[in-house]
Amino acid sequence: MYLVTGATGSLGRRIVRQLREDEQSVRAFVRLSSNFSELEDRGAEIFIGDLKLEKDIVKACRGVKYIISSHGGNDAQAVDYRANIDLIDQAIANNVEHFVFISVLGADRGYQDSATFKAKREVEKYLMASSLNYTILRPSGFANNLIPLAERFKDTGIYFSIGDQQNRSSIVSTDDLAKIAIASTQIEAAKNQVFAVGGPDIIKREDIARIFARLFNREPIVINPPLQLFDGLRIGIGLFNPQLNKSLGTLRTLLAHEFFCTRDEIARLESTFNLKLESLESFLRRYVGH
Ligand SMILES: NC(=O)c1ccc[n+]([C@@H]2O[C@H](COP(=O)([O-])OP(=O)(O)OC[C@H]3O[C@@H](n4cnc5c(N)ncnc54)[C@H](OP(=O)(O)O)[C@@H]3O)[C@@H](O)[C@H]2O)c1
Repeated sequence: MYLVTGATGSLGRRIVRQLREDEQSVRAFVRLSSNFSELEDRGAEIFIGDLKLEKDIVKACRGVKYIISSHGGNDAQAVDYRANIDLIDQAIANNVEHFVFISVLGADRGYQDSATFKAKREVEKYLMASSLNYTILRPSGFANNLIPLAERFKDTGIYFSIGDQQNRSSIVSTDDLAKIAIASTQIEAAKNQVFAVGGPDIIKREDIARIFARLFNREPIVINPPLQLFDGLRIGIGLFNPQLNKSLGTLRTLLAHEFFCTRDEIARLESTFNLKLESLESFLRRYVGH
């Protein structure tokens, strides 16, 4: 039995779908407020709970063999940090065979402005020091994040992107990441390893407008406000809502830095998991292309 947290999220949904396609038994940790009927229809066991409640985590972990932690949220302290620590403790208590943690590329760079990055790093350390078999996946941005932008581009030709257009990333097919997360529980070479996970190409932000232009055969209208504008707005917001100002730190971190995998990291990923990673263009063509 697999336990998948964040089962209604972009990644978690794909993990549950693929597990069910492989006829694996899976318990999907979901909130009552979310849309989980698709997961139920596919034969997943639905566990309704809240990851902020330790008692729910204790119950959800009973009798499971593998845990894939793929949740995330706005509350870094409770959801990104504490819930994962509780999951790891319960994995140990239940003799779980393998724990897969979805971290983030750059978790080890010490970004102080982002509570999420700090939470990911602390969870990584806790997991590595535990007695569990683990795999830590540090993905770059997910390709599905670009679906709404591509759809808007299709209708308007507008591509909106804040900050330096030369910044590079290795946007990863969310379907590939789901496959890698599942395979991590089975492949010996993935045991107790940390992987940077990205797509096959290093992409500059300006390349995304070109990909959209090719997909929809239209000239892009690029709107590119500088990062300073974001910073100015953030300071303004901070005067009225200090909490929101703080939570914008993760977005600021993502906008200001580069998140790409090296050629060696991609080669390691493809050889360990025996797969050919999908390009962003191919992913978008499948989901929103003609
Ligand atoms: N998106 C990216 O580009 C990216 C890049 C690198 C790493 N990551 C990491 O990858 C993981 C998955 O990201 P994603 O984009 O798939 O996330 P997502 O679409 O935002 O989904 C988050 C999931 O977590 C669940 N969740 C949040 N708070 C919860 C709570 N208190 N109790 C139970 N469930 C709760 C949500 O449930 P509801 O449906 O009820 O809200 C949802 O299923 C996260 O750990 C994220 O940090 C994401």
